[in-house]
Amino acid sequence: MSASGRLPGRLRENAHLRRALGMGSWEPRQVVVPVFVTRGSGKTEIAGLPGIYRYGVAEALAFLKAREQEGFANFIAFGVEESGMKTPDASLAWDASGPVCELMRRAKAERLAMAAWADVCLCQYTSHGHCGVLEDSEALKLEPAGTLAALSRAAVAYAAAGADVVAPSACADGQVAAIRAGLDAGGLWHTAICSYSVKYASGFYGPFREAAGSAPSKGDRRGYQMDPARGVAEALAEVRQDEAEGADMVMVKPAGPYLDVLAAVKREAGVPVVAYQVSGEYAMLRAAAEAGMLDFDRCAAESLLAIKRAGADLVITYLAEWMGG
Ligand code: PBG
Repeated sequence: MSASGRLPGRLRENAHLRRALGMGSWEPRQVVVPVFVTRGSGKTEIAGLPGIYRYGVAEALAFLKAREQEGFANFIAFGVEESGMKTPDASLAWDASGPVCELMRRAKAERLAMAAWADVCLCQYTSHGHCGVLEDSEALKLEPAGTLAALSRAAVAYAAAGADVVAPSACADGQVAAIRAGLDAGGLWHTAICSYSVKYASGFYGPFREAAGSAPSKGDRRGYQMDPARGVAEALAEVRQDEAEGADMVMVKPAGPYLDVLAAVKREAGVPVVAYQVSGEYAMLRAAAEAGMLDFDRCAAESLLAIKRAGADLVITYLAEWMGG
């Protein structure tokens, strides 16, 4: 949160007073570590996200154990599947032997001391790459009942495998209520929902789509994600709606280009607010530093500080390993 008042010059010029009066930065316990997980074994660096890998389940667990040692308290898993196996109805999303379920089970079996989050979306699992089941593949309209049923089924599978938090990111109206109903019907009352409530149709997701193999084969996501030109009022309405449906946490995504929205959501939300510093935000820092245009450490720290200052309670960021090291 922002400091009140100014730091007079006599205080600002003294390094000890400057440090004493400085605002806190993120602690690892407040950071959610993203992890891309695949079937099979090994690890492959993602071309658009230098330093970030896709891992087999065993390797993902080893990566997370290292983060656990550094004090990180949360991770979020994104499943990645081979394109040949995908179907229009995204049935791989709830495969109990799939990589996300497997990682959840292993993390619990090995008593990893981190809250396990699972991203819940269909775009990594549909043959067309859209976030739901399509009613009209020409108009790219989501079919509501089928989409909600599939999202709920996937969330229940992850929760049954051990997820502490499920995080729906499909931007389908009613997704939180549908998932809450599915979890409760399955006796999974203790699993929390973090909704990607405020999620813009953003170009900054580019590297993620390469990482997760989830780029739509046709069209874009403007038919269900939010218009970046619309402002705070719409964001607050989305948050209120998700809270009414039972969201235990709400998210704003991307983070850096939407700090005005993040600050407003923090003022209004009745539950914790998560900010997602997305793949493109990370890739920009890496690329600019690689080109000698800016100092990576300094700018990475500043980008995270801005998100904290805007009021986020937790942050999802690809900078986690850099922060811990
Ligand atoms: C799944 C999902 C996406 C991201 C998180 N969950 C991609 C998208 O909506 O296209 C993006 C995260 C990032 O860019 O780091 N729908």
